[in-house]
Amino acid sequence: MRTYTNVHDLGDLKAAVREALEVKANRYSYKSLGTDKTLLMVFFNSSLRTRLSTQKAGMNLGMNTMVLDINQGAWKLETERGVIMDGDKPEHILEAIPVMGAYCDVIGVRAFAQFEDKDFDYSETLLNQFIQYSGKPVFSMEAATGHPLQAFADLITIEEYKTKERPKVVLTWAPHPRALPQAVPNSFADFMNEADVEFVITHPEGYELPEQFVRGARVEYDQMKAFEGADFIYAKNWAAFQDPHYGKILSTDRSWTVSGRQMAVTNDARFMHCLPVRRNMIVTDEVIESPRSIVIQEAANREISAQVVIKRMLEANL
Ligand code: CP
Repeated sequence: MRTYTNVHDLGDLKAAVREALEVKANRYSYKSLGTDKTLLMVFFNSSLRTRLSTQKAGMNLGMNTMVLDINQGAWKLETERGVIMDGDKPEHILEAIPVMGAYCDVIGVRAFAQFEDKDFDYSETLLNQFIQYSGKPVFSMEAATGHPLQAFADLITIEEYKTKERPKVVLTWAPHPRALPQAVPNSFADFMNEADVEFVITHPEGYELPEQFVRGARVEYDQMKAFEGADFIYAKNWAAFQDPHYGKILSTDRSWTVSGRQMAVTNDARFMHCLPVRRNMIVTDEVIESPRSIVIQEAANREISAQVVIKRMLEANL
């Protein structure tokens, strides 16, 4: 594996989940793979889970790990080509990336959507510059349009907790005070469309996700109807994708907050969220604290999804 940006990079998804469960059972058995190898994690944005779980995954594989926070202690980077650099950014990303590549063997990049230019975001400009110019295997630690390490961990968690062959999985929009990227719901849809599940997306009108990720999945605008008989509820906020509202908040309707009212019509569903979560905006205290909530187990599986991806990159580049 040379890049990891979407579900297709994993190849056979069932085999990837089997590998993940094997890694989870024997996570310290691959230490020789990473001996004298260095993992560099580059963050343009904040993180708790991704930072810790990916570093832990690298350490499980015997790697040295380095973290660079671009906005804390590194030079500010210019990302546009052709700019006269007479402003506050003393280094261009086109020098910075190959320099970073010179110090490591595998690179993880976190670079969220900026909501200033939809084409810039949906071209994955920053992530693709790392892929093009670093000379090293590159994986997304949440980029502008996707969060494939999260979605892989979500799928592993669903596999562990499902009680029927083909569970009903519902992705629901929920309100949030800030405009959030579509990366998590995009990748969740990307994975669920390839998994053996009945997949339903529910959101208020105007929050339609990009077709390249929805791929014909059922979209139900009535949240209660969508929740009926669900085995897994996956809550997430996202800002509008469709023009002319890209990156905007169109609704703060708190009736979409996941509560006991909606959970009552499910098949005693498991509750999932990628975290961090705003309680009583996205989900009530009661639901997230209930025994049906598996948000902590889901976060724990981030270590496993990252370990599978880095392991495959090390194996492919021995
Ligand atoms: N879910 C997730 O990616 O968490 P962090 O933003 O804390 O890394």
